[in-house]
Amino acid sequence: MPEQKFSGLPRGSFRFLTNNARKKQRMNMQDTSVFDANSPQARAIARLFYFDLAISAVIFLTVASLVVYAVIRFRERPGQAKPFQDPGNPRLETLWTVVPALILLTLLVGTAYTMKIVNPPVVHPAPNVIVNAHQWWWEYRYPQSGVVTANELHLPVREKWLLQIESADVIHDFWVPNLAAKVDAIPRNQNYLWLTPSREGIFLGTCAEYCGRQHALMGIRVIVESPEKFAAWTRSQLRVPGKPAGPEAERGAKLFQEQTCMNCHAIAGTQAKSTVGPDLTHVGSRQTLGAGASPNNLEQLTAWIKDPQAIKPGCNMPSLKLTDSQARDIAVYLEALK
Ligand code: CUA
Repeated sequence: MPEQKFSGLPRGSFRFLTNNARKKQRMNMQDTSVFDANSPQARAIARLFYFDLAISAVIFLTVASLVVYAVIRFRERPGQAKPFQDPGNPRLETLWTVVPALILLTLLVGTAYTMKIVNPPVVHPAPNVIVNAHQWWWEYRYPQSGVVTANELHLPVREKWLLQIESADVIHDFWVPNLAAKVDAIPRNQNYLWLTPSREGIFLGTCAEYCGRQHALMGIRVIVESPEKFAAWTRSQLRVPGKPAGPEAERGAKLFQEQTCMNCHAIAGTQAKSTVGPDLTHVGSRQTLGAGASPNNLEQLTAWIKDPQAIKPGCNMPSLKLTDSQARDIAVYLEALK
């Protein structure tokens, strides 16, 4: 058998990575890193990391230098007698029991202190956002205002908000590295998370628990805005869309009701009230489609409606076998829902 050289990555993957970076640039995304902390909660986690890293570095350097010293200083030499065998040394044994115990205690205190900052207490206020994970998208409900949206979480800057995280199907995990800790989304269970974004901007996250075929396309966009912009966004999300304008949009709205779209989706002010799939009342105002699968524009939305399985194979939206013009009419109708 010819020897196979292992290159680490399958062929073409570097091209995929550069394409992906370009795609990110195009879509105005920033890179995510736990070291670029943008909330008191993320900063507490980063601090704990550096603290633990420093302690581990001291331990590593101490143990490694002692090992190297012992290997050189006490190596076997010709004609030398067997070295002295120490059957037990109470003083040393006490020392190497007490010192690691103290180190572990220090790590425990640091972790408990961080958890107190990151995790809400058992008795906590009502949540500001209910995050419901689905295969493979995120539903966000704002109980105070009544806003329902998908995949793009809008938050006001510098306000301490409580997120309630749950799941509609399997276990997912809500993770926005710049802003907060990972929190599991578990069916029939509620987890909570404080989130106080310290600056405006778009922060990207992803599902961090394998949840099926499209786990990789379950992106989270957190859009942090000034209180004024956030209030304006809330008002626009609560507005009930008016009648579709133009012949294409009118045909699209009719098709939306006739086809099976409304079995899964809701649009305020229409007969469509299902909550199986994402609420589409303001779908035109979102930046991406399919939880970050593609940018949101007329061409992409038409392609998505025509054959969602081509863009996100395995997703729960079937291909409805529409003609090109039917798909486009529906897309025109939906894109106008800002
Ligand atoms: Cu949802 Cu992985």
